[in-house]
Amino acid sequence: MSKDTKTIAVANHKGGCGKTTTVVNLAAEFGRMGLSVLVIDLDPQANASLHIGKKHPSEVTVTCAELLLSEVEKLPLAIHEDTYLEGVSLIYGSLGLGRAEDELKDETPRPSEELRGKLIPLEGLYDLILIDCPPSLKLLTSNALAAASHLIIPIESGSQYGMYGVTDLLKHVTRIRRINPRLELLGALLIKHDERQTVCKLLEGAAREQIGKLLPIRIPTSTKVNQAAMAQTSLHTLDRSAKVSREFRQLALHLAEELGLKVETASNG
Ligand SMILES: Nc1ncnc2c1ncn2[C@@H]1O[C@H](COP(=O)(O)OP(=O)(O)O)[C@@H](O)[C@H]1O
Ligand SMILES: [Mg+2]
Repeated sequence: MSKDTKTIAVANHKGGCGKTTTVVNLAAEFGRMGLSVLVIDLDPQANASLHIGKKHPSEVTVTCAELLLSEVEKLPLAIHEDTYLEGVSLIYGSLGLGRAEDELKDETPRPSEELRGKLIPLEGLYDLILIDCPPSLKLLTSNALAAASHLIIPIESGSQYGMYGVTDLLKHVTRIRRINPRLELLGALLIKHDERQTVCKLLEGAAREQIGKLLPIRIPTSTKVNQAAMAQTSLHTLDRSAKVSREFRQLALHLAEELGLKVETASNG
């Protein structure tokens, strides 16, 4: 049966605010719920690919870079079903994405809409497509936002600079909506949040005021996040009882409900 594919871009041009961690652990949770998931790594640093991919990005023939610059026929070659997360496929990122971004600008008539065009054949095949964005507001992020139906904005709540640049991001989203009116904000996601800390409380207030919509789950700081990345696994697999793992689970359940996805509750454990 054809699926009602939802495509979520996880974007914020501030580096280190938790984009990749969010993409990887949401993908893991959605996969565990029995949903079919595709992760698209649009960051030249390829951190999501290094985390869940079984190959090194430099060994992959068709990464996002080649896909963006090629004809749509390359799509099947770009999708790798064998990853370290069950039920999760991957289109790898690679250093070549930097060059691809320059070439898109110079050589394509609608440089922000290349990814959207390439993903059309996937409509109905996956329950969820999660796009990990690079730390910039240039063409790669524009391509993610133009291809997405939904957007999550991670905010580093434990940093006094967590809201820096958010106004520019929101303006960018408004511009992209001219070519992609369906793009819907799911909310800001507070990362490294600790409600006892004044800086986190201030950041939460600022995020609510400026972004308008906060996701009801807050992700705490945990050393397990780096450990899971190093072990190339999900937080759930590393330590399912850790608070950070439970919050990602709650986030996935919340989003599944918000997006109207049918999930297998039997695999909750
Ligand atoms: N909740 C968290 N607790 C502790 N460290 C975290 C948390 N979320 C992310 N990190 C760490 O912070 C760094 C940046 O996170 P990452 O997800 O790679 O951000 P981005 O993709 O936005 O650059 C990484 O080293 C990651 O392991
Ligand atoms: Mg990242």
